[in-house]
Amino acid sequence: MKIVIIGTGAIGCLFGAVFKKGGLDVALLGRSAEEVGAINERGVIVERGGAEETTAIPAFLDASAAGRDGLVIIAVKAYDTASTIPQIRRMLSPDGAVLTLQNGLGNAETLAGDLGVERLLCGTTAHGSSVVGPGRIIHAGQGETLLGEMRGERSRRAEKIAALFSSAGLDARAVDNAPGYAWLKLIINAAINPFTAIHNLRNGALPGVPNICEEMAEVVAEAEAVARAAGVKIPCDDAMAKVRKVCAATGDNVSSMLQDVRAGRRTEIDYINGAIVRLGEKFGIPTPRNAALAAQVRALRSGRSDQAQ
Ligand code: PAF
Repeated sequence: MKIVIIGTGAIGCLFGAVFKKGGLDVALLGRSAEEVGAINERGVIVERGGAEETTAIPAFLDASAAGRDGLVIIAVKAYDTASTIPQIRRMLSPDGAVLTLQNGLGNAETLAGDLGVERLLCGTTAHGSSVVGPGRIIHAGQGETLLGEMRGERSRRAEKIAALFSSAGLDARAVDNAPGYAWLKLIINAAINPFTAIHNLRNGALPGVPNICEEMAEVVAEAEAVARAAGVKIPCDDAMAKVRKVCAATGDNVSSMLQDVRAGRRTEIDYINGAIVRLGEKFGIPTPRNAALAAQVRALRSGRSDQAQ
């Protein structure tokens, strides 16, 4: 199966490198000429535990040049999701599938609204990865990748894709209730990312900050209440324990939101805590902690470059 990954950021480059090294037919589609040029010139560079590994992967700026693909993986920021639709249309083979591996709420819905729900798989990954330059990343935390149909069932198609990923060395599994897992990832992002951005800390340093675990638990409880009201079943009995585990497993990682703040880029706050607040308003569920964090992150000055402890 031919795979194209849209997005040459932390997750796009990581998955591209793992797949290519594992023998899969994969290409990257980017929107920055600098990134695509760097990848075509000298490959994707992954730094891990002090060592560097370079993998040659074809990268394209133009979707028509990437050819027809059986699987298109979306690894762009949530606010760029809609802009990938014309590109997907140019690349997807008639029976092809689209897998979103993005952070935030609403990505699968945006894609399915145009491409059809039957095309859509949603996935989550717990890998911690940061961009350090064009086509160059640091892989700071291993984790599982879960995927399944947007409609909720664990299909043969999802199992085949998970098996393909596993054959390339990625820890991947097909699941029932993929939208529930996407919500669990949303809760993890809501409880970790804004705090890392506000305090300028790596994930692993968060639990050491006074009172932060109580505040994280409030974020989690509000999000769980909203999910219940929306009819979503979260596949986890203790989401706060999961948040602590992710902080430990990705301890050295600079979260995607802190990376965005440091680089002066727009953050995904409106698709993470902001989305929980909006849905809470719809269902009459109060979400004061999520609202306060969203406001604080929106107010952060851009271009922070000091080192996280
Ligand atoms: O957004 C991120 O950075 C990641 O999803 C996670 C798991 C919080 C690790 O940093």
